[in-house]
Formats: sequence, C-alpha cells, structure tokens
Amino acid sequence: MFQEELVGTQGFAGNSSLVYHLYPPTIVTRIESSVSLEPKIAVKKGLKARSFKTFNIEGHPDYLKSRKTLLVNNDLYISIAAPQKSVNYFYKNADADEMIFIHKGSGKLKTIYGNIPFEYGDYLVIPRGTIYQIEFNETDNKHLVIESFSAISLPRKYRNDYGQLQEHSPFCERDIKIPTELKTHDEHGEFDVMIKKQGILYHYVYGTHPFDAVGWDGYQYPYAFSIHNFEPITGRLHMPPPIHQTFEGNNFVVCSFVPRMYDYHPQAIPAPYHHSNIDSDEILYYVDGDFMSRNNIEKGQITLHPGGIPHGPHPGAIERSIGKKETNEIAVMIDPFKPLMVTEEALKLEVKDYYKSWITQPEKILENGSR
Ligand SMILES: [Fe+2]
Repeated sequence: MFQEELVGTQGFAGNSSLVYHLYPPTIVTRIESSVSLEPKIAVKKGLKARSFKTFNIEGHPDYLKSRKTLLVNNDLYISIAAPQKSVNYFYKNADADEMIFIHKGSGKLKTIYGNIPFEYGDYLVIPRGTIYQIEFNETDNKHLVIESFSAISLPRKYRNDYGQLQEHSPFCERDIKIPTELKTHDEHGEFDVMIKKQGILYHYVYGTHPFDAVGWDGYQYPYAFSIHNFEPITGRLHMPPPIHQTFEGNNFVVCSFVPRMYDYHPQAIPAPYHHSNIDSDEILYYVDGDFMSRNNIEKGQITLHPGGIPHGPHPGAIERSIGKKETNEIAVMIDPFKPLMVTEEALKLEVKDYYKSWITQPEKILENGSR
C-alpha cells in the first residue's frame, strides 16, 4: 500500500500535486537546533542608483551558507550564491518559491518528483515546500537566486483562456524541462532536512528517505527553462521592456535579455531611451556579452536603479549604438513593484559612486561616439 500526500497551495485552491510515498511523509525522529537566516538590512530606504560586483564573493562548500542575500522587500529576496560542493542534507524552503538562475556550473536538481539536469543559462523554478538537493558537476558554480513569497508563474499575457502558451509567446511548453528519472528510495535511517520558515532554518531529522515516491501527478512541481531558448521579440522601432518578460510573481516580473536583432528602421537608434520606472525598482544582472547601454560592466554585476529617478544609457552608449545591427548581450532583469532594501552583504560588494557614472564629459562622448 502507498501513502498518498496532497501537496497543495493557496488553501488547496491553488496548484497541487498528489504524491504517492512508500512511507508516511510524517516520520520525524528528531528536531535539532535552528538558526536565523534573516538578512541584515543596511539601507532600509534609499533613492540612489547602486551597483554590486557579485563575482567577488568567495565560494563556500556548504550549499546554504554560500547564499548571500543582497536585496529584499516583502515580495521577494534577491541573492547570489557560489556553492562549491554537493551536500548530504536535504533542503526545503517553506516560505518561498525559488528561482535559481545558473550562471556558471552544471549538475542535477534532485526532488521527490524526479531529477532535472541543469547547465549554464537554466532558470530552475522550485515551488515552495519542495524538498530538494543539488548535485554539482563542478566546484565553480555561480547562481542568481530569487525567493518569491508568492507563486512564480509564466506570464498570464502569453497564455490563452485554457492556460496554453500562445504563438506570440517567446517560448512554449516544449521548452520547459520537467523532472525525469524518478528514483524511489526505499531507505530507513537518519535524513537531515533543513527547512526554512519565516527566516529561520529548522533542522529536522526524518526516519525515511525524503525521496520515497513511486509516482505523482498534478500541477505543483519544479521545472527548468533555459534563457537560451527565449526567442526575442524584435521590431522596426524600439520594443519596450515587457517583451522580455519570462516569469511573474506578486508585485514583480523577471525578464530575459538575449542576443537579438536591433530595431531595423533605417533611422532607429538601438540604445534605449532614458527612462523612469515611476513605480518600480529595476535590477539588472549581467550574464554575458557586451551590454550595449552600459560602460564598465562585468559578468555577474548587478545594477539597482530605484523607482523615483530616471536612468538610461551611459555616456557615449547612444552614439556607439548607431548603425549596429545586433547585440549578443545576455542579462536577467528583475522589476519589483515595491522598493528594495539593501543588505549588509550587498554593501560589501558595492561599486563605489556608481550613481555618478552618468556624468557627461562632452569631449569624451564625441571620442566614444566615433568608435
Ligand atoms: Fe532600465
């Protein structure tokens, strides 16, 4: 006989799955001590454009300790991580859906729903309540992590009344990697499960292996989507940021900037306009390629452009862009609709005086513009 578990969300009215276990999923043999993972806020309110070099963080052999939370509000946390090794414990985020963007490294996400192999460019989306482990193939791993306190989903604007992605969507169902290789672990013993709830990491010890499912069905499961499979939408005139949208949660969106043709009107200026996100902060995480609107930007660098003040191309970028046909840039953008707070960990990585980086030197613009 199997043990049925309903994994439900939003008072059992949201997405759910039925999981069939070998043993009841309730066999807790011990609870060890807990630790606080709550981020320490350094700047609660601010209106300053900032930038952070995240590739400067040291790697750490422990999966959870490698995670540094940089920017937070009540809807989401944004972290970076450089885990070096696979760990023996299991992890469950009971508060938040996690989206892990794989910037460096490859491996396998292991869950009760099966496994998902991942590589550079994959977004792993792991719904809250999913116990997981990650097996790494390399020691040099770099992740951008979003913890969302609401469900992360594919944008509603791409879907029809029945939920199917429409043809104008920049990706479709066949691009979604779902768990495969379901392996049923019939094991008794001591299994450490670290559970994060309200910023506290609880250490539970289970008496049976957490991945003891013989099967499951439903709509609540982890998946992966590669940024390299995002088909860009381009036009004769400048296309606005929403065409890059990839995911959404309550009060935020995630967008993918990928290699694409520039605007092809003969008089188009490929660099974007100066812009004010009146009611949204804007986070850009630079992944690869030459980011055309920015000067001196490195891989893994984050910019925070807060709502309330305009930002735009760096000096010389507009002139440099004229006549260019395409870009090879890759970046992940996160737009939270409520202001973000900056943590102490973020300040350690901050680029000094980034907010002054638009100071115009007219003679320099002419020089750069002629390149
Ligand atoms: Fe922007």
